[in-house]
Amino acid sequence: MKITVVGAGAVGASCAEYIAIKNFASEVVLLDIKEGYAEGKAMDLMQTASLNGFDTKITGTTGDYSKTANSHIAVITSGIPRKPGMTREELIGINAGIVKTVSENLLKHSPEAILIVVSNPMDTMTYLVHKTTNLPKHKIIGMGGALDSARFKYRLAEALGAPISDVDGMVIGGHSDTGMVPLIGHAARNSVKVSEFLSKDRMQQVVEDTKVGGATLTKLLGTSAWYAPGAAVSSLVQAIACDQKKMFPCSTFLDGEYGLNDICIGVPVILGKNGIEKVVAIDLSDAEKAKMKESAEGVSKTNALLQL
Ligand code: LAC
Repeated sequence: MKITVVGAGAVGASCAEYIAIKNFASEVVLLDIKEGYAEGKAMDLMQTASLNGFDTKITGTTGDYSKTANSHIAVITSGIPRKPGMTREELIGINAGIVKTVSENLLKHSPEAILIVVSNPMDTMTYLVHKTTNLPKHKIIGMGGALDSARFKYRLAEALGAPISDVDGMVIGGHSDTGMVPLIGHAARNSVKVSEFLSKDRMQQVVEDTKVGGATLTKLLGTSAWYAPGAAVSSLVQAIACDQKKMFPCSTFLDGEYGLNDICIGVPVILGKNGIEKVVAIDLSDAEKAKMKESAEGVSKTNALLQL
């Protein structure tokens, strides 16, 4: 199983590292445009192999897409990250051009690849890939919900004073500060709804903290986060590579599901060897449906800024 990660910045390198540590892929190719950078990250990571006990071969290339040929899965992390105070939407001008070129180059050498889009604004970048390539929709996956759900579980565990392994929760909707829809009504501690343990106000706080999860880190770090984004991507890659049939919220092109059309937005899907094998329909409350609709309107507004 060969996997390409485009962009050897913090998110791309973390992603390669977690894929390697999980030891399910034979090969990871890191590609970056900065001279020698991907080669350096790959070499540094390979020098952890004996320490961390993995056999995945990681190589790097400066912009040579022929090295990525016949990848099964390709992850697009390239583009500029946000700085403190910026929204993900403000990155659209620069990142749209980059994501379009990168996806075209990838598919030239790996026409069968499944693409995972991480670059922001992620739902719009996923839509762009959908509109500008001929890939079927099950092969285009936007990574947002897996990360946002991990942040939701972190906040739930904090509020409950519980270990994270006790906690379950999911975030759907757009991957933006205003668009995320943390499904607090469905969140549970060992199948007991969190509403049995937390006050309404505390639950609302969890929701708000989750929605600004990325922005909080951007403020602390001066740039956007990488460990949790990298780990989230690696989980999606593993689900596909190992045909796990796991359920994650991912951004996918909707054609009537959840009452939405002509949009890529986060909904629960089953990931297996074919990419998105199913969009899972779950019952949403009227309030959740309204939030999802509002989120979709926000994503559509950003999509309208694309020059397609
Ligand atoms: C974040 C970026 C990856 O949420 O969107 O940290």
